[in-house]
Amino acid sequence: MDKLIIKGGKPLFGDAYVSGSKNASLPIMAATLLAEGVYNISNVPVLKDIFTMGELLERLGIENSFSGDTFILNNMDGGGADAPYDLVKKMRASILVLGPLLAKRRKAKVSLPGGCAIGERPVDLHIAALEKMGAEITVNHGYIEASCGRLTGAEINFKTVTVTGTENILMAAALAKGRTVINNAAAEPEISDLAGFLRKMGAEITGDGTSVITIEGTDELSAADYSVMPDRIEAGTLMCAVAGTGGDVRLHNAPLKCMSAVTDALFTAGLAVKEGEDGVLELSSGGELNSADISTKPYPGFPTDMQAQYMAIMTKANGTAVIDENIFENRFMHVAELKRMGADIAVKDGQAVVRGVKELSGAPVMASDLMASAGLVIAALMATNTSEINRVYHLDRGYQEFEKKLRGIGADIKRV
Ligand code: EPZ
Repeated sequence: MDKLIIKGGKPLFGDAYVSGSKNASLPIMAATLLAEGVYNISNVPVLKDIFTMGELLERLGIENSFSGDTFILNNMDGGGADAPYDLVKKMRASILVLGPLLAKRRKAKVSLPGGCAIGERPVDLHIAALEKMGAEITVNHGYIEASCGRLTGAEINFKTVTVTGTENILMAAALAKGRTVINNAAAEPEISDLAGFLRKMGAEITGDGTSVITIEGTDELSAADYSVMPDRIEAGTLMCAVAGTGGDVRLHNAPLKCMSAVTDALFTAGLAVKEGEDGVLELSSGGELNSADISTKPYPGFPTDMQAQYMAIMTKANGTAVIDENIFENRFMHVAELKRMGADIAVKDGQAVVRGVKELSGAPVMASDLMASAGLVIAALMATNTSEINRVYHLDRGYQEFEKKLRGIGADIKRV
């Protein structure tokens, strides 16, 4: 099994490039179920999760492959409707095929995603919303089995903001009869990217990027080409790396406009971010860090997907930072590993209190999930001496050539 060996303590200098967004690409790929034809989707990151979604779509009659950096999908409507356990267990985002399958093929059998390292993560809100649109759904032997006539528009009131739930309903509603209004919708930029793609396919959607989205259902959609937004989480992770180690890095393709919560927190922590005329971000830090509290929230709040990386830099900040995790109940798995590197962190009831220490010392640590592994990599870059990060397959799910990018800006990191 691959692991990363990181010799910490080196500031970072040079140019780094942000890849396309994983969490925008996945729903956009699922949306190709809504219409037959050929799609050229550019800026899709080359990642494990993308290949898992590709494999699932292949089983549903959509051929797909990369050609250079463009992902090409050909929906030949094979008519399949099964998302089996062997694929869903690899990636929970497989649930994204439920909405489009029902809307277009009027049936779906999708394995129920189980819990995962960060929490229980139910999909009850997806199911209830699709039922409100006319689907008949039962859960049998670990599978969601659903069928419908043409879905009908409805008023959906999500009691919790759900990203993939909003995306599933957005896709289902695009082909439903009549108007759907999603209240308490997720406003994440990846939702707007999906809405932008659906509009190119012919959908009528307004309000994306806010908490109320309105969709006028259309009879038919058609294949379209699209370019996926850059990954704000990868950009934020690279920013944390520079804040934590110190240095000067030019960050290319970062979606700065949708990163205020992260850049504000990192500015307080000691990272200067300046946007050059060419849109390139000039990141600069002396390596001295200040503590600042954060609280994770749905967009535009501080993203839960940046919590572990931010915690990593707070471990060496002057003072104490209080980090509240409000989205997932179990997203502090990285804490025990950071403590093995000398961090002083106390966790109680979804809150972590991080008291800055003078030094982190390298250690062998174990990644538990995608973002936790990114946090551990950052801590290892900040530590004196060498760390060994095990189970890096988590990192490979979501970060394209991460160690290569870090090596490109001077990090001493290798995969063995
Ligand atoms: C998306 O997951 C992302 N995944 C996650 O990134 C991200 O951490 C999360 O949103 C929060 O921003 C993708 O976009 C593919 P939610 P999602 O539904 O949609 C509760 C990654 O690997 N809830 O917004 O699954 C849920 O338990 C991942 O990149 C219900 O109770 O998250 C959670 O507490 C890690 N019932 C809260 O809502 C439901 O039916 C928000 O979850 C659905 C959700």
